[in-house]
Amino acid sequence: MVQVAVLGYGTVGSGVVEVIEKNKDMVNKKSGQELNVKYILDLKDFPGDPYEEKIIHDFDTIINDAEISIICEVMGGVGVAYQFTKAALMKGKSVCTSNKELVAKHGPELLKLAKENQCNYLFEASVGGGIPIIRPLNYSLTAEKIESITGILNGTTNYILTKMQREGADFDSVLKEAQEKGYAERNPEADVEGHDACRKIAILSSLMTGQNVDSEKIYTEGITKITADDFVYANAAGKTIKLLAKSQALANGQVLAMVAPFLLDKEHPLGMVNDVFNAVFVTGNMLGDSMYYGRGAGKLPTASAVVSDVIDCARHLGKTIMCFWEEEDAVLADQADVASRYFVRADVSAKEQVLAAFGPCETMTVPGRENDFAVFTDPIRERDFEKLCESLGAAVLSHIRMF
Ligand code: HSE
Repeated sequence: MVQVAVLGYGTVGSGVVEVIEKNKDMVNKKSGQELNVKYILDLKDFPGDPYEEKIIHDFDTIINDAEISIICEVMGGVGVAYQFTKAALMKGKSVCTSNKELVAKHGPELLKLAKENQCNYLFEASVGGGIPIIRPLNYSLTAEKIESITGILNGTTNYILTKMQREGADFDSVLKEAQEKGYAERNPEADVEGHDACRKIAILSSLMTGQNVDSEKIYTEGITKITADDFVYANAAGKTIKLLAKSQALANGQVLAMVAPFLLDKEHPLGMVNDVFNAVFVTGNMLGDSMYYGRGAGKLPTASAVVSDVIDCARHLGKTIMCFWEEEDAVLADQADVASRYFVRADVSAKEQVLAAFGPCETMTVPGRENDFAVFTDPIRERDFEKLCESLGAAVLSHIRMF
């Protein structure tokens, strides 16, 4: 029998216990032996809970119990979770986690520690919730040179943008409604400012390159500036707006990683990913394009991914599963040198000035709108684009990169 401990009895933690219990037969069969949740660590008591007798408050009980070989860290944060994870790995206990913040910040160090102690640090649930993407990158696509990864990695922002696109609503009103329904956090900053997607693309980029991509160095822009007016143009052009997290392996060995809203064709596979769904679009040099789609959050989808890691650990007791993510930092390309096409919505009274600035390029008007028009620029370096926007001042109403 393999004894398991769960750190944190919140949404994901209770989901982990539920998945192991509900799918007991399948889980045990696929593990090759019986799995048992021996402890659940939490600060609170859970009177009346079916697993009440397993709740404990002292981590030492877990770390000092030689029977425990697998720990699910679903507490979140980079403080206590980091200390507990390190302590567990140093004792040769495998750790499975959904904690993207911790994986993004200390992934290579924890993987090294796991290797030194013949155990595993697995994190399938840290990106894309229930979508299998870490394992495909580690196992299935190992014959590929991955050229790029582009993801819709945040369900909250995808829900908001989908609503804005379908209902013509403003960002603020959709966010408020999403908060009332419990789809968005009361403090939505990590989601709407792109930080959550940034940590996830940092993890994927690190697996793509085998080097460490530091999330704090990734250019990150959220969706708070996207307006209902932008969606009027996007819809009229057969396009949509998505928060994309992108990473590209450049020929010079650098990595171009960023998180920002992009205008893309509604027919693009990522353009069809709506509501809270996530997707990861991977381009390999042999396979070409492939896409992984599903629920990027939620109790049972996320717990299912954590338990898949528990099963992998049970199958590999005493052995470390290979994962290429070195501590050496990848060199990130300078965002200012990147050339992008832009959608620019501008004041019609400054049309001549705007057209002169961007040169001959595609323009668009929407019937019934008299005050603005749009330009779809040719590729232009970001630093040059910023200068042009500065020179045009208030004539530029909004701008969004094109995918
Ligand atoms: N807040 C995240 C989202 C949860 O909206 O996708 C999953 O990491």
